[in-house]
Amino acid sequence: MHKPLHIIPYTTQADGAKLYAQCAGCHQANGQGIPRAFPPLAGHVAEILSKQGGREYLIKVLLWGLQGQIEVKGMKYNGFMPSFSQLKDEEIAAVLNHIATAWGDDKKVKGFKPFTAAEVKALREKKLTPQQVLEERKKLGLK
Ligand code: HEC
Repeated sequence: MHKPLHIIPYTTQADGAKLYAQCAGCHQANGQGIPRAFPPLAGHVAEILSKQGGREYLIKVLLWGLQGQIEVKGMKYNGFMPSFSQLKDEEIAAVLNHIATAWGDDKKVKGFKPFTAAEVKALREKKLTPQQVLEERKKLGLK
């Protein structure tokens, strides 16, 4: 006798690892980035998440991009991160959960909770420019 398969709606769940393919051309599959061109995410996401407001900042970068000089792990970058506002709220949450967990950054942050679509939705209204996102970054106390 065949038991009926329990249908799990995988197709409605955004796949962060798959979505990360859109980031890997710049930040690389291993999250190490390219020195002086694209900042690393592996290990750096924990640095951002451990700052007050870091969680919201990550959502803002995905929604509106980032432009201007930043410093990551002692290296300067002055590039342009494109906006990913075309992604759905749950897709942005999923790709952020991917970069937070793929290289163990979540383990370095006390009480990490997965990003939710509702958090993304709550910020989407703001509509910042990539330069304004840079100002948000400065508020975190990152170089
Ligand atoms: C076209 C290249 C490119 C793509 C594609 C790209 N990024 Fe970026 N990203 C950058 C650059 C360049 C910066 C740094 C911008 C600067 O120097 O101001 C950056 C910055 C960031 C930052 C902020 C780092 C910090 O210290 O503030 C995060 C987080 C990030 N990217 C995540 C992602 C994710 C997730 C994706 C995929 C959805 C993605 N990026 C796609 C080029 C890219």
